[in-house]
Amino acid sequence: MCGIVGIIGKQPVAPLLVDALKRLEYRGYDSAGIATLDAGLIKRRRAEGKLINLENLLGNDPLSGNTGIGHTRWATHGVPNETNAHPHQTEKLAIVHNGIIENFRELRDELIADGYNFVTETDTEAVAHLITRSMDNGLDPRSAVSQNLERLEGAFAIGILFKGEENLIIAARRGAPLAIGYGEGEMYLGSDAIALSPFTNVLSYLEDGDWAAITSGGVEIHDVSGGRVQREKQVTVASSVMVDKGNYRHFMLKEIYEQPEVISHTLSHYLDFATSSTRFPKELPFDFANLDRIAISACGTAYLAGLVSKYWFERYARVPVDIDIASEFRYREMPLAKGGLSLFISQSGETADTLAALRYCRAQGQHIGSVVNVRESTMARESDAIFQTLAGPEIGVASTKALTCQLSVLASMAVAVGRAKGVLSGQQEEKLVHNLSEAPKFANQALKLEQEIQKIAGDLAKVKHVLYLGRDTNYPLALEGALKLKELSYIHAEGYAAGELKHGPIALIDEDMPVIVIAPHDKIFDKTVSNMQEVAARGGRIILITDRTGAAKASMDTEHTLIMPDMPDILTPLIYSIPAQLLAYHTAVFMGTDVDQPRNLAKSVTVE
Ligand code: F6R
Repeated sequence: MCGIVGIIGKQPVAPLLVDALKRLEYRGYDSAGIATLDAGLIKRRRAEGKLINLENLLGNDPLSGNTGIGHTRWATHGVPNETNAHPHQTEKLAIVHNGIIENFRELRDELIADGYNFVTETDTEAVAHLITRSMDNGLDPRSAVSQNLERLEGAFAIGILFKGEENLIIAARRGAPLAIGYGEGEMYLGSDAIALSPFTNVLSYLEDGDWAAITSGGVEIHDVSGGRVQREKQVTVASSVMVDKGNYRHFMLKEIYEQPEVISHTLSHYLDFATSSTRFPKELPFDFANLDRIAISACGTAYLAGLVSKYWFERYARVPVDIDIASEFRYREMPLAKGGLSLFISQSGETADTLAALRYCRAQGQHIGSVVNVRESTMARESDAIFQTLAGPEIGVASTKALTCQLSVLASMAVAVGRAKGVLSGQQEEKLVHNLSEAPKFANQALKLEQEIQKIAGDLAKVKHVLYLGRDTNYPLALEGALKLKELSYIHAEGYAAGELKHGPIALIDEDMPVIVIAPHDKIFDKTVSNMQEVAARGGRIILITDRTGAAKASMDTEHTLIMPDMPDILTPLIYSIPAQLLAYHTAVFMGTDVDQPRNLAKSVTVE
């Protein structure tokens, strides 16, 4: 939700903190701030809005000091203004926080009664005063932090700087990610590996309940029981080069264009193109051949990838799938047979609702598999089996290449399960693997339609409401198209199963309502044509995304027909995602919205 960084360096750290925050800005961008220790005194600068405002402030009013912490915020408690921006400061310390302190009201009332003065609307300020009170009562920083952690309810990652302690940052995590970075006589703290990538690639990840005292000489980590623990040092592959926009105007566009490559990279991890067979690790803790049900849970776009995979698992492997939005799943108290497979899908691997669903399933005795992009994420670490998507860092807040890589993994897995269960013959497996191997080629061809899509976007940018329709695996894609359009352009959009149109949404159709129909020529194409006729009969404006055969067979008057290449059915959700992404992207560009960082959103939602 928010991004945290901390550095104990050998040179002034303010520019380094800002540099690291730039790579964390995808986590939140309502306000930003840093605090440093200068001759033992805490100094801070904070600014409302994007990081550039903080940079400008520091340009006019720089901060010195070789130890500091920084924060980029996605507001949960209190409006995004300078007062509520982190770091929060008391006479003794400055703190940055990612997450939510659920019992902050109770703590605040108690601290106010003790004479502590609150100036912000944030939950974080309660933590600042809580630790300060212990220090006022004579405790040193380490004891003050460790003693108060058990008072905090909720999920959090924090970093704290103390007045007069040039060589100390204390960090703690519960439920939100936090990494410690090791340098040469320098130490770092960050919400993820990418933030720290220019400084170090040697990291340890704190585990839930850990707190750590970081000094220039190293780190002392304590677990939830207070005992000293070692957390493994890992060499990460996160690279700052990967988070460069290159020649693209936006990260999102760059990430859309990376798809042929990352899809190919991901597919070749799970498919052997030489033998046209699937290849999943042999040493999985569960057997594909014995799966008789899969429970899938995820949020947003990742959920829609799961919804597509339901069709695939049921069609190619005859395995029934229960799928739920994670925020619903976690409270639904769904009965789950011991030893079954629960699958979680997430780009970040940190989404709070998905993580909570994962923990619920773990408690029910399920095997836990995760399709995640960030290998070092909490979800990956809490899974029995990780099916990694090899999309590389996704910085644009709207998910693009992560989705198509999730679909690549899930399609490969459905085929592998089908083969393991004997539902698919060797020949059928071969054919499907061959079909999937063509995804990068078709993705490249879809990208060639960008100019035509730009023209359609010019028209969409003038409307207030849009309807997306699709059937079968392209029904989740209709939902995804609508999600992308609303989050990027703020145009109201709805996705529907085309067959559902006549059960209500058809009432919306008039000459002002564009209806985007995602309809490759498949076995139910004719049904979708009937739905288009229903729209046309009511004066609706049809934008048809289909293939050559579909365009010829539909023989309808449409406002636009975007013609995709003919391709095998299994590929359509992957490849038709691309025009849906480009359409939302260009509509947003026409509207002048902030494409990479749409309002009110954050890349990784680590709060409930
Ligand atoms: C939409 C989007 C979100 C995410 C959702 C889950 O474009 O990006 O809907 O898909 O917040 O995030 P992850 O995949 O990190 O769990």
